[in-house]
Amino acid sequence: MSGARADLDREKAAAARAAVAEVRDGMIVGIGTGSTVAFAIAALAERCAQGLRVTGVATSLRSDAIARAAGIAMIDFADRATVDLAIDGVDEIDGRLRAIKGAGGAMLREKIVAAAAPRMIAIADSRKLVDRLGQAPLPVEVLPFARRFVQRRIEELGGAPHMREDAAGSPYRTDQGNGVLDCGFGRIHAAAELAAGLSAIPGIMGHGLFVGEIDALYVGRGDTAEYRERPNRPG
Ligand code: 5RP
Repeated sequence: MSGARADLDREKAAAARAAVAEVRDGMIVGIGTGSTVAFAIAALAERCAQGLRVTGVATSLRSDAIARAAGIAMIDFADRATVDLAIDGVDEIDGRLRAIKGAGGAMLREKIVAAAAPRMIAIADSRKLVDRLGQAPLPVEVLPFARRFVQRRIEELGGAPHMREDAAGSPYRTDQGNGVLDCGFGRIHAAAELAAGLSAIPGIMGHGLFVGEIDALYVGRGDTAEYRERPNRPG
């Protein structure tokens, strides 16, 4: 493993440990998706092995499998209206805790679980913290039936959509069987407006722009994690 990668992994692990320290006995925990969340699953499994009793709901089939393999009791979110706490990674996050998510393709389920939680904690290495969102592409989950229509509507909003492919060059499919358009919007100046504009397009099942869901952030700094909260102002 390269030194830079090892440094990022240390930051991810530190952020994940800090978030998992907030988990209390008896909680139902929403478990996000991605490499940072994999550290959170490991930290949660460690606490469960020490006697903590929690139940997890996963935002992806992948996270569900990893959590079960780690020994965490998992249930299907379809049977839950709420969870107690959600923990998830981000692709980019700004100082107001607005984020781009979905490089792992799970943004639709991630947003639903975030909405079901009174508190959502983002965990990230320091590379994810940006002044302004938009360097990462914004993933949009699209019903395959509506692909061309949605592409045109996204272009009208100023985006450059690109259909995501899997490693074999076939159309990428989410856990729901939908496609993903990775959309370049350049630097995003009006995140809430863009999020609302995308949500209003028929055929878009969900998107990775999170403008008000994230309550707190642990961002790794070396072996420790810095804590931030969403500022209390609108927009
Ligand atoms: C998946 C996500 C992930 O949380 C996001 O892509 C961050 O992943 P990683 O921790 O691997 O960088 O939104 O849909």
